[in-house]
Amino acid sequence: MTRLRLTLLQSRLLSLLPCALLLSACSNTFNPLKDYEQLTPSTILESPEPAAQTNYPADRVAKGKYLTGLLGCGSCHTNGALVGLPRQDQLLAGSSTGIAYSNPMQEPNPGIVYPSNLTPDMATGIGSWSIAQIVTMVQAGIDNHGSRTLPVMPWPSYANINDEDANSIAMYLKSLPPVRHQVPQNVSPGQKAVAPFVHFGVYQSR
Ligand code: HEC
Repeated sequence: MTRLRLTLLQSRLLSLLPCALLLSACSNTFNPLKDYEQLTPSTILESPEPAAQTNYPADRVAKGKYLTGLLGCGSCHTNGALVGLPRQDQLLAGSSTGIAYSNPMQEPNPGIVYPSNLTPDMATGIGSWSIAQIVTMVQAGIDNHGSRTLPVMPWPSYANINDEDANSIAMYLKSLPPVRHQVPQNVSPGQKAVAPFVHFGVYQSR
């Protein structure tokens, strides 16, 4: 009986051998990580100083600066921050590195969004956004055209910010010295990326 079991087990293992060989052969030719590099997530960002002249009360602007730092807006919205090399002259002025929101391990051309320029530059930033529009984006992820933004911009995590705090953030952003920096156009899944991107972990439940 014991002998028979062993034989069965052995034959099972033997039958798995071709699969194992095939898998290792495949992994030699397809390594989804080969185009990626490990990042050093060591970025600690200062929030930039507001301009000397602003239209908003100093205490609200100061609170907005504190909250913006606390909530880590700059860790996405600063050029270079996503790859551990934040550009001090582009703090909160948008990222030329995008964030992939479909899985680049499975498809060569994932969808990508580029964190926007949050300084009040008219051409490339949020200079034309009202305080109320910025508040709606932070609390509900709805942009100035009324479209819902993908939660890559982590508005679900900010939904419970109270109105006073959300307004303070908006007043601070509108008080920043404008920085001209055009972020790349977002890329739909299947389109070829025009600029580099990072990808956060993926999830599969089974
Ligand atoms: C995990 C990365 C990440 C963090 C953290 C983050 N954002 Fe964003 N945010 C994005 C991305 C990506 C977009 C662009 C979304 C798009 O184009 O669909 C965006 C868009 C925006 C926009 C719209 C601007 C425009 O011109 O379209 C505003 C305003 C904004 N974020 C404010 C904030 C504020 C304020 C914080 C902190 C409280 C913050 N974001 C934190 C990723 C982030």
